This record gives sequence, C-alpha cells and structure tokens, in this order.
Amino acid sequence: MVKRWQVESFAVVLRRLAHVVRKPLRIVDFGCGTGTLLLPLAHMFQHCSFVGVEMKPAAVALLQERARAAGLANVRAVRCMIEEYVHEPFDVCLALHACGNATDAAMLLAVKRRAAYVVSPCCVGKLKFSLAGGSSFSPSQATYTPHMPGERPVADQNHSSGTTGPAADRKDGGTAVASAAARMCKEHIELDRNLAAEEEGYRTGLLKCFQWEAMAKNDLLVGVPAERSEWAGLVEALHGSGGSMA
Ligand SMILES: C[S@@+](CC[C@H](N)C(=O)[O-])C[C@H]1O[C@@H](n2cnc3c(N)ncnc32)[C@H](O)[C@@H]1O
Repeated sequence: MVKRWQVESFAVVLRRLAHVVRKPLRIVDFGCGTGTLLLPLAHMFQHCSFVGVEMKPAAVALLQERARAAGLANVRAVRCMIEEYVHEPFDVCLALHACGNATDAAMLLAVKRRAAYVVSPCCVGKLKFSLAGGSSFSPSQATYTPHMPGERPVADQNHSSGTTGPAADRKDGGTAVASAAARMCKEHIELDRNLAAEEEGYRTGLLKCFQWEAMAKNDLLVGVPAERSEWAGLVEALHGSGGSMA
C-alpha cells in the first residue's frame, strides 16, 4: 500500500486520541488528495466522522468514488482551499504531505479550533512561494528569488565551485553531509511549527513515522491543546518510545 508506514503511524496516534474521548471525533484531513490517508483511517475508525479537504476537483471526485465503493458512510469531501475551511468545527486535524505552507494553514486552523493535530509535512521547498505571498503550491504569485545557499537543490550545493569545508573534502562530494544538513534544517522548521503551537497553549511532540529511515518526509508532528485534560500525557507517552514510532 502506498504510504503504508505513514498511515500506520497516524493510526497509532489517532487511536490514542480517540480512545479517551467519549464522543465520536470529527476528523479533518487537510490536503487529502484521493484519500490515501483518509480512507484507511475512516475504515479503522468507523465511529468517527471524516472530512477530506482538497482543492483539486479530480482528486475529490476520486476520493468520493472510492469512499462509496468501500461503503464508508463516515466520509465527506469538501473541495476548497484549506485556508477557506473556516466554518466547520472539528476535533482533530490531519495533514499528510500537504504542500509547503498548506501544512501551516492546517495547523493554524487546528489551533483556532483548539483541535488536536497530527501532521507529517511535505518537503519544505515550496515554502519559498509563500514567503512573498504566493500560494502553497505555485510560484505564479510569488516574486521571491532564492538567495540563501540552503535554497538550492542539495546536489547543486555539493558540486558548486564555491563549496568549502568538510562536505567539499569528502570523496563522495559531500552528499551524505549535505543531505544530513538538509534533514537537520527540515527538523528545525518542524520544531518551529510546534513551538508556534506551544505559544498558543499546546503540548507538542516531534516524532518519526514507523520505518522512517526508509523514506523521506517522515516527520510526525503531534499537538494537543493543554486544556483538554483527557489528552494530558498523550504527547509524553508517545515520546516515551524514544521519539520514534518504530
Ligand atoms: C502531496 S499531496 C498529498 C495528498 C495526500 N494527503 C497523500 O498523502 O496522499 C498534497 C495535496 O494537498 C493539496 N493541497 C495543497 N495545498 C492545498 C491548499 N492550500 N488547499 C487545499 N488543498 C491543497 C494538493 O492538491 C494535493 O492533493
């Protein structure tokens, strides 16, 4: 199954969230695509309601068709931008590989609703579009010009004549060092995302998906509003596994 380990990682956290809440959870998957995450979770948690929010009409149509074919009565799809999904309350925000600042938009909505969030962000390349007010998925509205070394592709950085230091000295062209640096940079962005939620009164955790070494885009961010006593200790319990779902 595509993205099996991400789906299993989300399922573990969702089980903990749902286990201690008496009423059925209202769960929204932001940037749900055709339902790779949403559909298996909706099957596993049939007492909860699921909404998929997605901007692409074709993806929404396929998601609806798949939900119908699977007999899932607890799934609804809404075609809109994440940023526009402001009218319906929900308990849990999910987002798997929501491009660029689409993850940030989903997390902001979660905080506004005092909902829990479980997100595994996409690569950070598209964040540059939003720095100048562009959308999360297209440079068309952005005038931003990359100028920091880290904004060039990793391979490009390695082979640049200007590259100095340990990476340049390595026989492998510094690929391993550079990709470790890229991973570390991404982790700092993920930490920053969680810290923004902590400033709003959230308990947060930065974890890794199951089998994280075998795949990219494997960070798993979890946040619960501190006032939800039924979720107290949940983040700490997840971290008890050493920060990895493996
Ligand atoms: C990389 S895909 C991931 C899809 C799905 N979550 C998965 O993991 O298979 C990202 C999806 O988010 C959608 N998306 C990106 N930005 C969005 C936004 N601002 N509002 C709504 N959908 C968005 C894209 O159309 C795309 O379907």
